[in-house]
Amino acid sequence: MVRKVLKWTGIVLGCFVLLLIAAYVVVYFKTESRINKTYTVNVQKIAVTQSAEALAQGEHLVQIKGCRECHGEDLGGKVFIDDPQLGRLVGANLTQGRGGIMREYTKADLTRALKHGVRKDGKSVILMPSDEYNALSVEDMGALMSYLKSLRPVDRELPENEIKPLLRVLTFLDKFPLLPAERVDHSKQSLATIKSEISANYGQYVAAGCVGCHRTNYKGGEALVPGSPPVPNITKTGNIGKWTEDQFIHTLRTGVTPEGKKMNPKNMPWTMTKEFTDNEIKSVYLFLKNLPEEG
Ligand code: HEC
Ligand code: HEC
Repeated sequence: MVRKVLKWTGIVLGCFVLLLIAAYVVVYFKTESRINKTYTVNVQKIAVTQSAEALAQGEHLVQIKGCRECHGEDLGGKVFIDDPQLGRLVGANLTQGRGGIMREYTKADLTRALKHGVRKDGKSVILMPSDEYNALSVEDMGALMSYLKSLRPVDRELPENEIKPLLRVLTFLDKFPLLPAERVDHSKQSLATIKSEISANYGQYVAAGCVGCHRTNYKGGEALVPGSPPVPNITKTGNIGKWTEDQFIHTLRTGVTPEGKKMNPKNMPWTMTKEFTDNEIKSVYLFLKNLPEEG
C-alpha cells in the first residue's frame, strides 16, 4: 500500500516537473524571439551644440533621468543587477575610452538608442527607459548628447548582459520592462523645445520620468520586482492629495514623507528627484494635483 502511494506520488510529481519544463521552454523561445526582434526606425535629426548652456542642461538631465544609476558615477558603465535568479544587467560605457560606445556611435546611433530604445544592431536595448526619454524635446536630446560627447574617457570593458529564468518569466508575463523598444511609438516626432516654467504642462513633461514605476495613470500598483515595496498612488486620491506644495518638495528632496516614511532611494529614486529645479518640482506638483480623478 505504502509503495503504491509512493509510486503514484512519484508519477504525479514527475508529470508536474515535465509540465514545468515544457512551460519554461515556451517562455524561453517566446522571450528569445522578442529579444532578437529588430526594428527599423526613421531617426529624427538632432542638432548638437557645445554651448555652455547645452552642456549644463545635458548634465542636469543626466542627473534627473538617472543615467548614473545604471551607467555608473563616471558614466563609464557598470553591472547594475547581478542576481542568481534575474541575471546580469550591464549599463554600457558611455565615454570614448576603451570599451566605450562613444568611439563609434554617431549622433543618429545615439538618437536611435535614447529616443527609440533601439541599438546599433537594430534590437531593443535592455531595460533602459527609452520609452520615457522618447518624450524629450529635440533641444534637450541635443543637450544630453553634447554632454555625453564632453565626458572624460573611461577605459572599462564590461561583461555581456545575461538574462536568467526569473527575468524571462517576468518579461513573458509583462511584469518587467525588459524591452523598451516594444513600448515606444516609433513614429512620434519630438517637440523642438519646451519652456521651463511653472505649469501643469511642463510638469507632465518632467513627470514622464515617473510613469515607469507609478504607471501611466500615476495611480501606482504592485511592486516592480519581488521584494520591493508596492508603488503608491501619486494623484490627489493618494497621500499627495493631503500634502502642501512644501511637503511635496520636502518629500522629493529628502525621501521622507509627511507621514514619516523614509524611502530607500533604490525603491523610490529621490536621489534623482532631489536634483529637480524649483520650476521642475513645482510643475510636477501642479500636474499631479490637477490630474482628473478617473482614468
Ligand atoms: C535602468 C537602467 C538604465 C538607465 C536609467 C539608463 N540606461 Fe542607458 N543603458 C542601459 C543598459 C542596460 C544598456 C545596454 C543595453 C543593451 O546592451 O542592450 C544601456 C545602453 C545605453 C546606450 C547605448 C545603446 C546601444 O545602442 O547599445 C546609450 C547611448 C545609453 N544607454 C545612454 C543613456 C543615457 C544618456 C541615460 C540617461 C538619460 C541612460 N542611458 C539611462 C541601462 C540604463
Ligand atoms: C524606479 C521606480 C520609481 C520611479 C521612477 C519613481 N518612483 Fe516614486 N515611488 C516608488 C516606490 C517604489 C515608492 C514607495 C517607496 C516606499 O514605500 O518606500 C515611491 C513613492 C513615492 C512617493 C511617496 C508617496 C506616498 O504616498 O508615500 C512620492 C510622492 C513619489 N514616489 C513621487 C514620484 C515622482 C513625482 C516621480 C517622478 C518624478 C517618481 N516618484 C518616480 C518608485 C518610483
